[in-house]
Amino acid sequence: MPALDDRDGVIWLDGAFVPWRDARLHVLTHGLHYGGGVFEGERVYDGRVFKLTEHTERLHASARELGFAIPFSVAELDEATRALVQRQGIVNGYVRPVAWRGSEHIGVAGAGAFVHVALATWEWPHVFAADAKERGIRLGTSRWRRPAPDTAPVRAKAASLYNICTLARDAADRDGFDDALLLDYRGHVAEATGANLFLVAGGTLHTPTADCFLAGITRQTVLDLAGDLGIPVVERHIAPEELGRFDECFLTGTAYEVQPVRSIDAHEYRVGRTTTALAEAYARLVRSADRGAAARAAVSP
Ligand SMILES: Cc1ncc(COP(=O)(O)O)c(C=O)c1O
Repeated sequence: MPALDDRDGVIWLDGAFVPWRDARLHVLTHGLHYGGGVFEGERVYDGRVFKLTEHTERLHASARELGFAIPFSVAELDEATRALVQRQGIVNGYVRPVAWRGSEHIGVAGAGAFVHVALATWEWPHVFAADAKERGIRLGTSRWRRPAPDTAPVRAKAASLYNICTLARDAADRDGFDDALLLDYRGHVAEATGANLFLVAGGTLHTPTADCFLAGITRQTVLDLAGDLGIPVVERHIAPEELGRFDECFLTGTAYEVQPVRSIDAHEYRVGRTTTALAEAYARLVRSADRGAAARAAVSP
């Protein structure tokens, strides 16, 4: 696969389509030095972006958390995304919106740097091995933790927070796991490096209270699907000592979808009925005609 900066097509940058290879930054970009960047990850199914407006709204909200405003409205970015997906001919793919403080100013203070926005889309590559959805993946608990809400902008999908995820993921890869489980600053079970966590005991779903990490759009979709399917849900703090008491475990995320987990450290889980029912319901929803108002708005005219 060619490097991400060496492809054909276009990228939407600050309001215009530019040739893919020309979408470049200067080395003195504020966002690069001080982490002033926010981004999104979106999926295209059958030519339409799933929950597009929710993602664009979260991009705006993430920027606000970091103290800057995105100079394009949600409607403008939604429209640009749909046009880009169509222009690139993406049927099943990924969209990466990103916004950052630019090179007009350097220094710790954020004010004075202009905000730039880009949208890129490409064909979807798989996150894990081809049989991962059937077999489940293996997680190892990381020594890295999700920080407290008064330590970092935990509700933002902020580039700077992903250092923790990259360190955890690289260590998990080195240790032979597929991904890492991160605890939070209090020692509670939190999430994986790019997805939220669910556990199942006796047919009831348990998921950590999202008070110091991203409450994912997929997490909410799965909570709604659980409601539709009559699956009871408990959102609460979960201690790592409890991990041996659950029958099933899965992750949720735009990229991961509903991804079964077959082990966390020495605790083993089966890909059971609850996980399978939710994975199937999610797979149906993302491709169905009725994906909610946000998705309906994403249909190209
Ligand atoms: C750290 C982290 N947690 C959770 C999620 C799940 O969020 P969503 O379902 O909105 O993709 C993601 C993915 O964006 C993530 O990177």
